[in-house]
Amino acid sequence: MVIILLGPPGVGKGTQAVRLAEELYAAHVSTGDLLRAARREGTELGQKAQAYMDAGDLVPDELILGLVREHLAGIEPGTAVLFDGFPRTTAQADGLGGVLGELGRRVDGVILFEAPDETLVKRLSGRRSCPDCGAVYNVYYNPPGAEDTCDRCGGSLVHRADDAPDTVTRRLEVYRDQTAPLVAHYDGQAAPLVRVRADRAVDDVYADFREAVEGVR
Ligand code: AP5
Repeated sequence: MVIILLGPPGVGKGTQAVRLAEELYAAHVSTGDLLRAARREGTELGQKAQAYMDAGDLVPDELILGLVREHLAGIEPGTAVLFDGFPRTTAQADGLGGVLGELGRRVDGVILFEAPDETLVKRLSGRRSCPDCGAVYNVYYNPPGAEDTCDRCGGSLVHRADDAPDTVTRRLEVYRDQTAPLVAHYDGQAAPLVRVRADRAVDDVYADFREAVEGVR
């Protein structure tokens, strides 16, 4: 099973994907997480991606497709895959189709998470992440037990630089211009596109997400 989680920054794709991946023993492929790891490791890709990410712009398609191709090669054949934050352009969607075709796989479903901009902005302003173990918190909705400290590993939590207000505004613009057209792109294809209202509590969103995934499996 190959599922794409589509939706704007801060809508909760990562939160939902982590939970479903644990339940289904699926591979969670987040291009944002892979890029942040490349930056921490100081790889050539990480260095090339840095300026785009800091500005809230998309990293060029060819870099992303190379990254995804390489990452997929390391995943056991037949493992369920949840793509989070990828594809983000029609060129990436076409590239993904090609890579999956080479592996004898295809996209089975697209889940579109939707929430108003005010919700996204508040969630991103309150997000805190652990760079050590990847845990994600929110000072408004899901605060850590001790301020700025990860409950899971004790690491120091950070507010992502691209969650600063001006960069969030840019990321929302980029989503509308370059990623939202994927809704029409996938709506016309064989794999179903299912909409999930994401401006609700995490458990309620998850219940609908789970049901949507069951429907396309
Ligand atoms: P990326 O890291 O992918 O960012 P994004 O898609 O903008 O998504 P986010 O991680 O901001 O949000 P999310 O939807 O996962 O929300 P989350 O679950 O964390 O990309 C970063 C950058 O990398 C891009 O700008 C670009 O430069 C580059 N990039 C990445 N992929 C690329 C690609 N394919 N092509 C080109 N460039 C690429 O939740 C947000 C907050 O809300 C958290 O605090 C969470 O705890 C909270 N929350 C979640 N759900 C709920 C809920 N239901 N109720 C209350 N709070 C909630």
